This record gives sequence, structure tokens and C-alpha cells, in this order.
Amino acid sequence: MTRSSYKWWQRGVIYQIYPRSFQDSSGNGIGDLNGIIQRLDYLNDGTPNSLGVDAIWISPFYPSPMADFGYDVSDYCDVHPLFGSLAHFDHLVQAAHQRGIKVIIDYVPNHTSDQHPWFIESSSSRDNPKRDWYIWRNGRTDGGPPNNWGSFFGGPAWTYHAPTGQYYLHQFLKEQPELNWRNPEVRAAMFDVLRFWLARGVDGFRMDVIGLILKHPELRDNPPNPHLPPDLLPNDLAARTLMVHNLDQDDVHEILRKMRQLLDSYGDCVAIGELWGPLDRWVRYYGAQGEGLHLPFNFRLMDEVAWTAESIRASVDEMEAALPPFAWPNYVLGNHDRIRLATRFGGQAQACLAAMLLLTLRGTPTLYYGDELGLENGVIPPEKLQDPQGLNLGAARSRDVARTPMQWDASSYAGFSSVEPWLPVSADYETRNVAAQTAVPTSILNLYRRLIWLRRSSDALAIGAYQPVDAPRSCFLYWRSAPSERRLIALNFSDRVQQVQAPGLSNGRILLSTHLDRTDRVTAVLSLRPWEGLIIAPEEGIHD
Ligand code: GLC
Repeated sequence: MTRSSYKWWQRGVIYQIYPRSFQDSSGNGIGDLNGIIQRLDYLNDGTPNSLGVDAIWISPFYPSPMADFGYDVSDYCDVHPLFGSLAHFDHLVQAAHQRGIKVIIDYVPNHTSDQHPWFIESSSSRDNPKRDWYIWRNGRTDGGPPNNWGSFFGGPAWTYHAPTGQYYLHQFLKEQPELNWRNPEVRAAMFDVLRFWLARGVDGFRMDVIGLILKHPELRDNPPNPHLPPDLLPNDLAARTLMVHNLDQDDVHEILRKMRQLLDSYGDCVAIGELWGPLDRWVRYYGAQGEGLHLPFNFRLMDEVAWTAESIRASVDEMEAALPPFAWPNYVLGNHDRIRLATRFGGQAQACLAAMLLLTLRGTPTLYYGDELGLENGVIPPEKLQDPQGLNLGAARSRDVARTPMQWDASSYAGFSSVEPWLPVSADYETRNVAAQTAVPTSILNLYRRLIWLRRSSDALAIGAYQPVDAPRSCFLYWRSAPSERRLIALNFSDRVQQVQAPGLSNGRILLSTHLDRTDRVTAVLSLRPWEGLIIAPEEGIHD
């Protein structure tokens, strides 16, 4: 198969935009859709001066009281005035498509806002026709909530509603009541939401906590967690139980199959799901024959793996081995719910190596805005804390650190806004910004650009097979092989110089170093500087 016979979401690179923090065009300190339009050329203007991404995924921009910064939707079919209007959205889709950029939007099916008209109706009386659109139950006979489930944001997953004398389920904030996907009317209404955006020309959806939409029909108690984390907070009830009955129910796959059919009927639209779980459960989200999600997000390198060559290789190999032939891999190293990649991996050199890893593995990479600048965790003074997870579970759990404004240039507020932004701009913005890094040939931004454009021009990197090779401690080496070309990737996850024997290579040329300062020829023994990664094109003598 040639590169062109692969789908755009297989060949391409996805870039996540957290719209509050990308570009403010209206002067209120909060990013908006117009701001994204203004920055599209940065993302891809068709030349290697731009980042070169193929798709943007935009986190929620819907009307919302913003209890969870847009993941509490009060109208699925409109745009919050803070972000613009449907007309701005249509313009964004058109402007993105003109540049060959696909548009993926966030779909939040598990819960609405408590201000959504559906919930207002549902909570108005026990016999309201929409009562069963949400999950209402009586308390236990001995008092207290219907079961022992906890909210991921702290406290119980149930809130008592005095006017109607029942509890409703919310595994996030009490302002995020959960829809009852066992009710066919809910399914129909939520499928209509997909149709609404498909008709406006979107190219796919990132489905928020999609594994949660069905719970056990009897809402059974979860078993206790025998391995309580040492730093367990008193109100972290979710961590006290094993997630058995509140997510990953077998019948969810039937719903995903139908969603997929709907998307397929609109062309090459991608279905991406936010999912966790052990590999054997996770892989089922592709569907038994590939009729499920195209890309169940793979968070293993972000969430589970120590930053060593050995554990990263083990994770990649296990995932590759678990995939059926029809399933396409993908990798995520950062998003709006985790600390910044450069902070987690220990610095800028490590962030550069992470970039090469992410953009040379087999499978679709998803980048998080600002990681291409090596942004580190923002420092948020306690009085500026915004994230409800941080407010409820302690500042150490605040996701604000990864949501600070994009740093465009050295002007006030980093070129993000003309007024003080909703979260503080990081102190390093005068040097760590798009304009400054563009001018420095060896910057991490230029590394990202080179990596993405190299990937775009290379069959081996875009679609080639993945073959790891044995390497000394702290090094990770793999071939990417397409019928037309092969590339060797050699990554040094240590602060020491490493001499590495490269099996299958006798002579080659360095196409790219993470240090962006060498393109020399190499032989079978490679010399890797601390935290250096190389992409090598073999020139002769390739052995299998
Ligand atoms: C997902 C989102 C997160 C949000 C949560 C509840 O995990 O990524 O930001 O808080 O769902 O919607």
C-alpha cells in the first residue's frame, strides 16, 4: 500500500487546541475561534515555515457555565459567546479546509451541564418526560447515596436533589449530571448532535470519557480498592474503589458501532475516544472487526510509563502486539488534563527527545498546544487557581499548570491577548515564544517543524512498519520500514554519551538530530550525545 491509500488521520499529525488559551482576538483575556483562525498559518501554511499539522482538535467551545471550563455543556449545538458564534465556527472550518487542515471537535456525551434545558426539565419533577434522561435513584434505605461510587473530582458521585427527593449521578462535578444512555431518546438526541456538526463540515470527534457512557444496569457498588494510594485524600472517594461497574460495560461497543456507521456515512470522519484501561479491554474499542473507534487514545506513554528507554520500548511493543491487523496505533504525550510534557520528562533536552519519539513511532501523534515550544508547567498563585479538580483535590492536582496562554511573542501577555489573560502567562514568555524560537535554528519549535515535515515527506515515517532492535541500556532503537524506504531512529535516554551498534546499518546519513546541528554520515557504530535522538537514512548494506 502506498501512503496515499492510508486515511488522513493515519498519515497525519493532530494538534490539540485548548481554545481559552490559544489566541484572544476579542480583548477579554480568553481565547476564541477568531483567534484560532488568525493562527492557522502558524499551524500549516503549506510550507516548512509552519508547523505542518494535518488536523486540529478543539476542546469544547459550546455554551457552558464553565464549571469545568466547557466540559459542562448547556447547549450542544451552539458556540459560547466568549468564543464567538456559529458563523465564526463555519468560517473556521472553511479557513482550515482551505489550508488542508481537518477540524476535529470535542463531543461530551457522558454528562451535560446542570444548566442544560434537558436537566432543568428532568429535575423539575419525578414524572417529567425527561426524568429518565438522567440517572436518578432513591437513597439507600439506611440513608446516604444509592451506591459507593465516588466523583473523579472528589466527594460522592451522587447529589441529593431535595425538591424531588432523589439523588442524581455525576462522576465529575455536581454541575455535570450524567445522561442515561440506556434511554433510546437520549441516544437519538445525542446522535442528532453528531449530525448537526457533521452537516457543518467537521472531520471528526474526540469523544470525552466515552467509556463511561454506560454503567452497570443495576448500578452496583464497586469493590474496594485493595491498593490505596499512599497520598489518598479524605474526599477522594473514587480512588477507594475499583472501577468495575461505572465504566467499560460490554454493551457500549454496540453504541460506538452505530456512531461509527453514522460518521462513515459522512465520509472520512475520524472517531477518537478518551479511554483508559488494561490493553485487552482498551483494544476492544477498535471493534472486533475494526467497526468501533478509529483511534482509542493511547495514553500509556503519558500516564503509565517511566521515562526510560526500557519501559518506553516495553509499552510500545506490548501495544503493537495487542493490536489486531486492522487497528491503527496512536500516541499522546500531553493534553489539557496532565502536567506539561517538558516538566514531566525533566527538561528541554528530554522534551526534544520526546518530540522525536512521538513523531517517529508508528501511529497517529496528537500534540498539545505549547508543547512544541517546550512549555513547562505554569506557576499559578493560589488566588488565581481556576481548575475545579485543583480546587477540590488540592493545588497539586490542578490542571491549570498545562492551560496557560500560548506564547506567541515577547510583547505584553505574550501576544495572546491585549489584557490580562484568564490564567497567568508563564514567566519565561519573553524568550520562550514562537517568534523568538523561529529565529533560533536549533530551537525546539524548529525541531518540531523539521520532524513533522520530514514525517510528511517520508513513507517510512508516515506509514512504515515498526521494528525495534536490541540496544544498550538507556537507548531505544527502531526501524521504520516502508516498501520504498527505511529509516533508523536512535534515541539516547541518558545524560551520557553512548556508542551504539546499529544492527542492519553499515552506512547512513543523519537526516535529523534532536540537536539540529549535524547531518554527517554514520557507520554501524553510532555516537549519541546526552539525550540525543537521530533519524538516519541507510545508504547501503541494509540487512534484515
Ligand atoms: C475529560 C476531559 C476533562 C474533563 C472531564 C469531564 O477527562 O478531558 O478535561 O474535566 O472529561 O468532562
